[in-house]
Amino acid sequence: MADIDSFQTEKRRFKPHASFAKQANLTAAEFKKLTALAAKSPDKYWAGRAEDLRWMRKWKKVCDWSEAPFAKWYVEGQLNASDNCLDRHLETWRRNKAALIWEGEPGDTRVLTYADLHRETCRFANVLKGLGVRKGDRVTLYMPLVPELAIAMLACARIGAAHSVIFGGFTSQAIADRVEDAESAVLVTADGGWRRGSVVPLKTNVDEALTKTDKVKKVVVLKRTGQGVTMTNGRDFWWHDLMKDASAVCEPEPCDSEQMLYILYTSGTTGKPKGVVHTTGGYMTWAHTTTKWVFDLKDTDTYWCTADIGWVTGHTYVVYGPLSNGATVLMYEGAPNWPANDRFWQLVEKYGVTILYTAPTAIRAFMKWGDEWPGRHDLSSLRLLGSVGEPINPEAWMWYQKVIGGGRCPIVDTWWQTETGGILISPLPGVTATKPGSATLPLPGIFPEVLSNEGQPCKADQGGLLAIAKPWPSMLRTVYRDPERFKKQYWSNFAGKYFTGDGSRKDKDGYVWIMGRVDDVIKVAGHRLGTAEVESALVSHPKVAESAVVGKPDEMKGEAICAFVTLRGGSEKTDALKKELQEHVAKTLGSFAKPEMIRFTDALPKTRSGKIMRRLLRKIATGDGTLGDTTTLEDLSVLAKLREDEE
Ligand code: WTA
Repeated sequence: MADIDSFQTEKRRFKPHASFAKQANLTAAEFKKLTALAAKSPDKYWAGRAEDLRWMRKWKKVCDWSEAPFAKWYVEGQLNASDNCLDRHLETWRRNKAALIWEGEPGDTRVLTYADLHRETCRFANVLKGLGVRKGDRVTLYMPLVPELAIAMLACARIGAAHSVIFGGFTSQAIADRVEDAESAVLVTADGGWRRGSVVPLKTNVDEALTKTDKVKKVVVLKRTGQGVTMTNGRDFWWHDLMKDASAVCEPEPCDSEQMLYILYTSGTTGKPKGVVHTTGGYMTWAHTTTKWVFDLKDTDTYWCTADIGWVTGHTYVVYGPLSNGATVLMYEGAPNWPANDRFWQLVEKYGVTILYTAPTAIRAFMKWGDEWPGRHDLSSLRLLGSVGEPINPEAWMWYQKVIGGGRCPIVDTWWQTETGGILISPLPGVTATKPGSATLPLPGIFPEVLSNEGQPCKADQGGLLAIAKPWPSMLRTVYRDPERFKKQYWSNFAGKYFTGDGSRKDKDGYVWIMGRVDDVIKVAGHRLGTAEVESALVSHPKVAESAVVGKPDEMKGEAICAFVTLRGGSEKTDALKKELQEHVAKTLGSFAKPEMIRFTDALPKTRSGKIMRRLLRKIATGDGTLGDTTTLEDLSVLAKLREDEE
């Protein structure tokens, strides 16, 4: 993990325009004041942030860190997340303001006002109650990007149940694993969703998943695409049938600040995905605050975060952050290049989007498709651009700024993780001078450090490991049903500090430059995947004996998946088998997890203790000639063999 070299030297700098700075939600003077307050009197600072929410009972203590790393925030306070996202606005002029403007991939549209969203949420909350869901239960949501997904999340929050959203790109094995771990008795899905003109068979995937687990007792199915599905009597119910008679009256349940709001499964270093647990008070506080500050969100904005709700970005910055701020949120169901490469720009023009938040992978694809696509549309409504999910290369940053932002929009390159719940490192659009490729500075109250393997602070421009030195309200509370894994994964590298799993450096101005993951997590097109998850998918094929998966740099997707595979005796190393294995992974995990390259090998390089030497495989995958220290190799001939295969 050590010795992370950085060769990047980026000299460009962009100060916020005076006109933007003047109207910003957070000004330079306030930023300075709050940063100082957060360092000097953290409790006072964090209490101030939480006061922006509506509480049903005030907390007694801001932060209890006495059982570190298990934090409690806003101790003994009570609130309800859906009350903060909905009811609160109904008492104001926002009652009839558009909360969600939704467009399906085929072009169908819907607008839900805050009053609409509230009514539907209350009704679905009553449906969930009718199915036996109680406070503290876990409900799994596996849906396309439709308003009903937000409704189902808010309905869970309303009755104090936790949701576990599974990205619609995952398939049966991933669903079964997550349902099993969460012990979720109710699952909400749809017949299908639209993606590049075809139907994603969500219900069929669920049916297959439910042959592998018996945890789920009731399935609610939303009719979206209308293709035929099999409904199992007594288990499966149509959303519209259950909603028909559901009452629109459902008072929000007072929830303890530490009541679990959701579990979101994310990839880690073993095959079993981790259930990242977020609770109510602290998470909502930071979701609300960061949305207001980083995106400078105003009532007049049309805000569009293009992330799927199946990832954390969609949880915090499509649902909880913007809705708690009373924003108008655009949601688009489908692909950016359907029916043509200008779909995003068409949407920006059509709805007058003012704030756009997307991923570097998408930006690089737009760059490749050419300037003529955005050039066909009037993008002058845009006033702020955001990036998230992977390091953005300076070239893509410059393109985004110039071609999409017309040179007028500040860019916020926001660094955070599923585990952090909200943005921790990011420019503030009216305050921070940006440098293309840097996530710049921490938000007030966040204390990132770049450390050596031994936990010593690195010098300016020296690469090291990124840690967060103090607790913050939206930090994950634990790994669901696995507190030991939580401690080991995040808190065992550096005493008392949260280890992020990212490499990074700080420059002379204290700006943070993220250098990507240092563990076995890869980011394919911004989607987070554990190498071990792909490996277990490969090994579940009858012809595979063992496999090792690594990420290799990819110009478009950030990283591409490379799999080294040893076959069981008698299986032939054919191209047809490679294809079959790729399809097998697509089928078990999802097509975004399909390895780009498969290499057959007779054995995998391992240390004497039997650990696969991924560092070597990564170098082989990238065609790097310098293999570094190989003294721990159990069998050097294995390596020689892999190198030979290379030639
Ligand atoms: C990476 C996504 C560079 C990083 C919100 C992190 C980034 C992982 C950035 C978390 C950024 C996220 N610049 N890298 N602005 N944002 N990352 O859990 O490696 O899907 O650890 O959360 O994405 O991915 P996750």
